[in-house]
Order: sequence, then C-alpha cells, then structure tokens
Amino acid sequence: MTDTIRLIYGKKEYEFPVFEGSEGEKAIDISQLRSTTGLITLDPGYANTGSCTSSITFMDGEKGILRYRGIPVEELAENATFKETTYLLINGRLPNRQELTRFSVRLNDNSLVHEDLRAFYENFPRSSHPMGILSAMVNALKSFYPVLDNLEEEINITVTRLLSKIRTMAAMSYKISRGHKVVYPRPDLAYCANFLNMMFDSPVKPYEIDSDVVNAVRVFWILHADHEQNCSTSAVRLVGSARVNLYAAISAGIAALWGPLHGGANQAVIEMLSDIAKNRNMGKAIERAKDKNDPFRLMGFGHRVYKTYDPRAKIMKKMCDTLLNKLKISDPLLDIAKELEEVALKDDYFIEHSLYPNVDFYSGIVLRAIGIPTNMFTVMFAIGRLPGWVAQWKESLDDPNWKLGRPRQIYIGPTQTQFVPVDKR
Ligand code: CMC
Repeated sequence: MTDTIRLIYGKKEYEFPVFEGSEGEKAIDISQLRSTTGLITLDPGYANTGSCTSSITFMDGEKGILRYRGIPVEELAENATFKETTYLLINGRLPNRQELTRFSVRLNDNSLVHEDLRAFYENFPRSSHPMGILSAMVNALKSFYPVLDNLEEEINITVTRLLSKIRTMAAMSYKISRGHKVVYPRPDLAYCANFLNMMFDSPVKPYEIDSDVVNAVRVFWILHADHEQNCSTSAVRLVGSARVNLYAAISAGIAALWGPLHGGANQAVIEMLSDIAKNRNMGKAIERAKDKNDPFRLMGFGHRVYKTYDPRAKIMKKMCDTLLNKLKISDPLLDIAKELEEVALKDDYFIEHSLYPNVDFYSGIVLRAIGIPTNMFTVMFAIGRLPGWVAQWKESLDDPNWKLGRPRQIYIGPTQTQFVPVDKR
C-alpha cells in the first residue's frame, strides 16, 4: 500500500488504501467499503473494477503492451512454441529442457479421448455450432475420468488432459460433422502439427504438413493464450469461485467466448467482409457502424482495454501477408479488410472513439488460408485461450484473498406490492 484515498459521505470521512501493482497501476481497495459506509459501487460492465490481483498477464491499453509473465507477446510469437507458452502461463516461468520433455510426454499420453464420447458427437444435429458442442463435451469429460485422491495430482492430470484433449475433441467434431473418419493423434507430431493432421488428414488424401501453416497456428495460439480478466476468463474465475470442477469452469469460459462481441468476432468479421464483397457496400457498412440508432458494429474493431492498435493485430496482419504470399493465395477479403481499415482509421468517428483493428480483424483470413472452416474459428480461439483460463483458475485457487464471486446490485423495481388473486387481476 502506498497511499490512501479519502471519501466524504454525509458528515463522515473515511479512508481507503490505494493498492499499487508492479507496473505502477493503482486501485482503491474498497474491500471494506460496505462494512464501513453501507455503500456499494455501481460499475456496469466492470469497466472500473479490478476483480483480483494477478501475476499472469500485463496489458497496457494506451501503450499497446501485452506481456505474459513479463515476456512481451512479440518475443513469444517470434521465439516460443505454444507448448512453452502454455507452460509459462500455468507455471509462471519457461520450462527447462527436461521439464519440457516431461510436459510433452504427459500431453501425448493424454491425447486420446474416451471412445464412448463419440456417441455424443454423432448425436448432435449436424447444424450444431462447434462452440456449443465443445462447451458441452468439455463439461462431459468430468463423467469420463475418475477423481484422484491426491488433490495436487488431480489438478495436474485434469489440466494436462484438458490441454491435450481439447485439440483432439475439436478436430473430432469437425471430422464427424463432415461424416468423415476420425483421425487419431500421433505421438511423433508436435502440438500444432498434430492438431492440423487430425483436422485434415484423410485415408484418400494424406495431409502434407507445411511448416508455414504450422507456424501460423503456433503464432495464432500464442497471441490468444491469455488476455487477463476478459469476459470468458472472468466467467472461468466466477464459475470456478463456486469451487466447481475445472471442466465445468472451462466449459463456462467456452460458452462466454462464443459471443460475437468476444471470441465469436473472428467468425463475424469474415461474415461482414464477405457481405461487403458480395454487395459492394463498404460505405454503407461504415455509415451503419457510426449510426447510434443502428446496432451494427464494425466487427474486429474496438476493444475495452486497447485504445490504440491491438499489439496482437499488428502481428496477425503481418503474418497474414506473409502466409498468403508463401501459400500463393489471393484472398479478396484481405484486400477488403485492408481498404476498410484504411478508410475507418481516417474517419473522425473511429478516431474520436479510439477504435482500431483488434486481433480478430485479420485472424479469420489467416484461418481461412489454413483451411479452417468459418464456424470453427472461435474453436481455434478457445484452444489458444485454454492455457490462460487454466492459469487464471489455478491462480484463483491459490489466492489467499479468494472469495466466492457474488456481486451486489441496486434494486430499481417496484417497492413492496400486494399479491392479487388471479380472478381479481
Ligand atoms: N464499431 C462501431 N462503433 C463502435 C465499435 C465498433 N466495432 N466498438 C465500439 N464502438 C462505439 C460504441 O458505439 C460506443 O459509441 P458511443 O460512445 O458514441 O455510444 C463507443 O464506441 C464505446 O463502445 P462500448 O461498447 O461502450 O465500448 P466497449 O469497451 O464496451 O467495447 C467491444 C468493446 C469489443 C465490445 C466493442 O468495441 C465491439 O463491439 N467491437 C466489435 C466486436 C469485436 O470486434 N470484438 C472482439 C474484441 S477483441 C477479441 C477479444 O479479446 O475478445
């Protein structure tokens, strides 16, 4: 604590401590506010509320900074594997060679999913969205794997199971949705390549693993691996605070991520760009986004925290250009995205509202180039975000200030009203 803040309410004066984080961010500690003053705070969307202290991810929305455990995301995207990034987020430091090998072995050992789960997959209607299926199946995992007596080992094995099986389950849902044979994980393939192989290998057309494509998936997942207290992570922490099992908490995170204002934006961007391409209506889209009476928003633009260019979007845009060039793909949606960005960034509305492209603006074009179907885009985001959710859940479990998540409200409904029997209404 470095300072205090004084609150004058009625005839009384109260003091509250100011808490300072390691990067100089300051917060008023109001944990005693209600008990001392009788007041609560009102903060829709929690835009001014710190729900916890955390040592996992630091972001500065004004400067466009994103670091995992202190390491800039740019350095990780350049040098790290997704597996190393996962270990870093969950364990607080990069693994040494021995730890990395042990981690790889455990991931490999847990990569298969129970064969009985296939029956569930096969019985979802073909038109089901893969995010709904993934959320349900992750929750179902609890019933398939027995609980161990040793709590620490139980947590470790559950974490490893989830990290490994999520790829298998995602690829499985794609194969089954197409009526194709499921491809099993291979022990000789690394994390990202293994996923691509399960998605695209076929008995009649063996999948050729392309290092540029593997690299694109690696970077995509690293960029999505954590983003501090966003909507889905807060869902994981809140649901987890009731001390439910990890599968249930992650399932809640997947459900929250599905929303088009959050992870679902990557699918929504492609749908928006395709609509602009089909109807040649970029001007109209910009006008609609600026119209207060129209709910339409420019998908892939704006962010609750970043008020400058999203650092992840910078990397994604560069990777998008490099990948499409290497694969010799010409995607008309990329040209539209670039034109839309140029027009929006010069427009007073977007300048005044500090609206810049976010990570989802170019990521859909990268995923399309890899061959991922549009309705699987948010599943790709979920696989990438899993290490962050797990790390945040684990941190909350060990937090000495842990409390059941239970916000309050200010009631604005009718005051006490008498019940009227049905024939008198
Ligand atoms: N297009 C047009 N106007 C926008 C947009 C947009 N994409 N985003 C925000 N605004 C306007 C909004 O209408 C409001 O205007 P005014 O103050 O004049 O009423 C103002 O900017 C502030 O909007 P807000 O909804 O209060 O701001 P927020 O911080 O809650 O919004 C957001 C964050 C991400 C929900 C929003 O920018 C948005 O809806 N973007 C489109 C969806 C999207 O791309 N989501 C992915 C986010 S990045 C991936 C992730 O981490 O989940």
